Formats: sequence, C-alpha cells, structure tokens
Amino acid sequence: MRAIDHITITDAAIEQMSATPNPRLKQIMESLVRHLHDFARDVDLTPEEWLEGISFLTAVGQKCTPFRQEFILLSDTLGMSALINHLHDRRALEVGTKTSLLGPFYRQSSPQMNPGDCIVKSPRQQIVIYGKVTDIHGKGIPNATVEIWQTDEDGAYDLQKQDGVDVPVMDMRGTFHTDANGDYYLRTVLPLGYMIPMDGPVGAMVLAQKRHGYRPSHIHFLVGAPGYRELVTALYSQEDEHIDSDTVFGVTESLIINLKQDDPNSPMKGYPAINYNFSLGAAAADGSGRVGADPSQITKVSH
Ligand code: BEZ
Ligand code: FE
Repeated sequence: MRAIDHITITDAAIEQMSATPNPRLKQIMESLVRHLHDFARDVDLTPEEWLEGISFLTAVGQKCTPFRQEFILLSDTLGMSALINHLHDRRALEVGTKTSLLGPFYRQSSPQMNPGDCIVKSPRQQIVIYGKVTDIHGKGIPNATVEIWQTDEDGAYDLQKQDGVDVPVMDMRGTFHTDANGDYYLRTVLPLGYMIPMDGPVGAMVLAQKRHGYRPSHIHFLVGAPGYRELVTALYSQEDEHIDSDTVFGVTESLIINLKQDDPNSPMKGYPAINYNFSLGAAAADGSGRVGADPSQITKVSH
C-alpha cells in the first residue's frame, strides 16, 4: 500500500501483521493498533507530546526493580488493573466474592498461623476478623487457605518499614486454614490508609493530575481451596476518608466492611470485630486471577 495517509496508515499496519500465526496475539495487536491510532488522531498528538510519552514510559521502565513494578503501578492508577479484575469476574462460572487488586506488597510463603493468632508482632489495638469460606451455596469449605496481608496502624507494610534490609522479616501477614466447617478467625490491627509509592514517574503523573494518591484503609486476602477459583480480594474500611476516591479504583461496595465494637457472635470476645464470609466459585480453566505479581518474577531476564 503506497497511498498511506493519517487514516490509511492504520489498515496498512494491521495488514502487515495479518500473517501472525497465533490468533489471540493477532486479535490483541490489531485492536491495540486501532485504538492507539484512534487515540493519536483523537488528540491530534504532536511530535513533542509523542516524545514526552516515550520519555515517560522510559522512566517508568527504569524505575522497575525486583522489588518495585512501576508499570503495574501505572496500570493501577489508570484504572486498568481494576478493569482487568472486573473482566476476570465476568468470566467466572459461578459468582463468588468480588476480586480486588493484589497490589505490590504480596509475598509468597507468609508465616503459617493457627486459628486466633495475631499476625502483627507489636499490635497497639487488636481486632478480630472472623467468618466462613464457603462455596456459592453457602456450604463451608474445610481446610481452605486464607492468606492475609496489610499495613500496620501507621499505614506501612513490613517491606516499607524495613527498606534496605537484605532479608526483611515478615510482619502483618500470615497464612491460616479454615476448620472442618469452613470457619476462620484471626487477630490483627486496623490498618491505616496510605499513599501509593509517589517518588517515581507515576507519582509525578498523579500529582500533575491533582489527585491525592491515597488508598483507603484495606486488608488484602488471597483465599483458595482445591477445585475452587482462587480469590484475590481486599476488604475496605467504611470509615476511611478516601473510601470513594481510591487512587487505584479497588473499592467495590460488597467489599466495604464495618468494625463492630461489641459483637456477640465473635469467637474472641473483648476485641472489636469484623465478620466477613468469602464465597468461592468453581474453578475454571481461565488462568490466574492475580492482577499483579511478585516484581522479582517480572524483571527476570530470559535468554
Ligand atoms: C496495595 O493495595 O497495596 C496497592 C495497590 C496498588 C498500588 C499500590 C498499592
Ligand atoms: Fe494494599
């Protein structure tokens, strides 16, 4: 095709990719090119703006390390990660508890704990979280894995508190198992909301857009059992001032929780309590539901 102009360039680019043997790759790349070209035409992108975009993406890449994924942070702040979660939920065979972001602070192999253990080494005000892990009909799932991780009462994850330490000690995280009825209970603290990492190009973008950069107070969970769809989710505190303006769009109505000062049903009396039941859908062959990853897995270079 010789008569390439600002319109025909799109079909020309797609035509050149048309022999792509992998049909899914072909579909994704064709759509990506169409939308990218439409975007450039829509805003009438100038050479200076194009170069600024290239510089920004370069800075995002340069900020990535085995401990930090600035590209995922970019995806989070653009609403892309939350969108991928919603699309993942739509593909479920059965509708269970809604998913939410895995976030950058998940760590594999958190300490194994017993029912009622406290996941925080130096708690100030302890709370109890309890409930059931069930199938979508409400039947308890015995021996389900309940992984939990969160910030402390000042809004810092263990990794942030031990920045620069070679082998950071795991704190504010743990792995529990449900009992024969599918019940779990544990002690922790009420986490404080916090700002996403703001010292990189994504933080600069967020500030340039006059956004506050905060995530509301939340507690992450990864819940699983053989034969069920892995659930990556988080529970959000109703009281947080940023509950309606999460910088990474992770909040969903059904994931907002209330802390009860006095809960007669709590398995551990004398502590404020949160009661939450997780419902797992049947496993589907549609891959992982983890929108996020341990950053060290992404920076691995394969030769
Ligand atoms: C988090 O929940 O830990 C998180 C998620 C997205 C960006 C930054 C932090
Ligand atoms: Fe978080």
